[in-house]
Amino acid sequence: MGGNAIPVAIASDHAGVEMKKTLVDALSGWGFAVEDLGPGTIDPVDYPDYAEAVALRVSNGTAKFGVLVCGTGIGMSISANKFPNVRAAILYDEYAARYSRMHNDANIAIFGARTMKADAAADRLGIFLSEQFEKGRHERRVRKIRGIEKRVCRTGP
Ligand code: RB5
Repeated sequence: MGGNAIPVAIASDHAGVEMKKTLVDALSGWGFAVEDLGPGTIDPVDYPDYAEAVALRVSNGTAKFGVLVCGTGIGMSISANKFPNVRAAILYDEYAARYSRMHNDANIAIFGARTMKADAAADRLGIFLSEQFEKGRHERRVRKIRGIEKRVCRTGP
C-alpha cells in the first residue's frame, strides 16, 4: 500500500463483526489505508461507542471516509449523523451507494449485517468509494446541512 493511501476508518457492533471482516479485506485489496476500530469479537457491545469512534475521525478529517456495520444499520446511522461534517448513508442498494456520493457527498457508508449480504455490501462499498460528489446544485444543499449543524450543535470537534 502506498504512502498516499486514502484513510478509511471502519467499525461495527457485535452483529456486524463478520461483515466487517469482508469489508476490511475488500478495502485493503483496493489499496485504502484501513483503520479497523473494532470490535474483534462477537461479545455484545453498544453501537454508539463504535459509531462515535468512526464518526469522530471523519468529522475531524483524520479519516476521509468511514464504514459502519450493525444489525440493521439504523443505530449506527442515527449515532454517526450527530457529528458535524458527517453525512452517513445506509447503502441499501447500488443506486443509494452511487447517489449518496454524487448528490449528498456522503462520507460514511453504513450496512446492516442482518438485512444485507456481505458480498452485496462490499460491491456497494466499491461503488460508493469510486464515485465523486457532483457539486453544482447539490453543493448548495450540502451547505444547508452544514448550516443546520452550525445553528443546532453548540460544540464539536
Ligand atoms: C444489536 O442487537 C442491534 O440492536 C444493533 O446491531 C443494531 O441493529 C441497532 O440499530
